[in-house]
Amino acid sequence: MKSIVVYFSQTGNTRKVAQALQEGIKKATGNCDIAPMKGFNPNELRAYDVIGLGCPVYDWDAPKPVKAFIDTWRGLEDKQAFFFASHGPYRGGVFTDLAQRAVNRITVLGYRSWYGEVRMQHVPKPYFTDGHPDEQDLAEAGQWGADMAQLGQKVASGQLPRSEADVCPELVWGKRRVNPGYQKVPGGADRVFGLHDVPLTYDRQKCTYPKCHICIDNCPVDCINLETEPQVIQGKGCLDCGFCEKICPTGAIDADWAPLAQFWRGFVPTNVRLSIDNATRRGHFRWLIPQSTPVEDGPPFYVLHSRRPRIKIGQV
Ligand SMILES: Cc1cc2nc3c(=O)[nH]c(=O)nc-3n(C[C@H](O)[C@H](O)[C@H](O)COP(=O)(O)O)c2cc1C
Ligand code: SF4
Ligand code: SF4
Repeated sequence: MKSIVVYFSQTGNTRKVAQALQEGIKKATGNCDIAPMKGFNPNELRAYDVIGLGCPVYDWDAPKPVKAFIDTWRGLEDKQAFFFASHGPYRGGVFTDLAQRAVNRITVLGYRSWYGEVRMQHVPKPYFTDGHPDEQDLAEAGQWGADMAQLGQKVASGQLPRSEADVCPELVWGKRRVNPGYQKVPGGADRVFGLHDVPLTYDRQKCTYPKCHICIDNCPVDCINLETEPQVIQGKGCLDCGFCEKICPTGAIDADWAPLAQFWRGFVPTNVRLSIDNATRRGHFRWLIPQSTPVEDGPPFYVLHSRRPRIKIGQV
């Protein structure tokens, strides 16, 4: 039996979980490949029996390219998948969304998510989920990966009927039960998570293209074009993920984060903290920063990481 873990990850949390899953599956079954989703040819999935696909939660949902990736799946009806995610305080409906796309394409064996550090420009630091995924999270991921692969083996060998292993129908119906929380957010969820109110700016004088092309290489939807006049950043299909701004080594891509950071400062005690406290009470969340930290008073990520690049590719 052959397995592969495919992941979408910008700031490294999902990648770490993916690597832990790969290790766990390898230990259990002797093999497991791993690949970033960007540039991965979905036709290659046919060579595998069990496929793990993981992503961060963006706007209470899966990032658009991940959903589009599943939409390309063909000829995988006799294969099995599992989904995983990393997220800050809100998991949202990411799995129901992925499962709705996967239904009738593949058998879905399971789904699981982990808390992850948030490196969005406007969030205060330290932040609730800092330090995740930690060693304990990754050990759990390894074990869960092994469980998924073993379940996959049973289905592949006919020991377990596909219909019994498939969690897809449950997930699809579960959508109705997932509270997306959108209605609770003053100003709408876009205001809070999508960064849609914060247009990025581009300063040609600071840009060293074509010597540098980091933003082009790492934009998840290839919507940056610095060959045209005027140059295009945030072109068609832009996710407003703000990643190009974080990784630009010269600050040529920039934004005014102050208004959103100010808004967020008020949002933390009225919403995020309540959600994290709730998860703590239910035993879903493990604090790695002192629980008494006055999170809302901390400096925003963009202030703390004012030196460019804010994040170095490959170092998170
Ligand atoms: C554009 C954007 C939207 C996000 N939306 C959410 C969200 O709705 N809920 C949440 O808990 N975290 C949200 N996050 C935080 C990420 O899900 C979290 O940091 C994740 O672990 C990042 O994964 P990565 O390190 O693999 O890129 C968002 C981050 C970005 C950049
Ligand atoms: S914000 Fe930047 S990196 Fe993100 S999709 Fe838009 S152009 Fe690409
Ligand atoms: S990352 Fe910054 S410096 Fe590099 S090409 Fe993009 S805008 Fe220019």
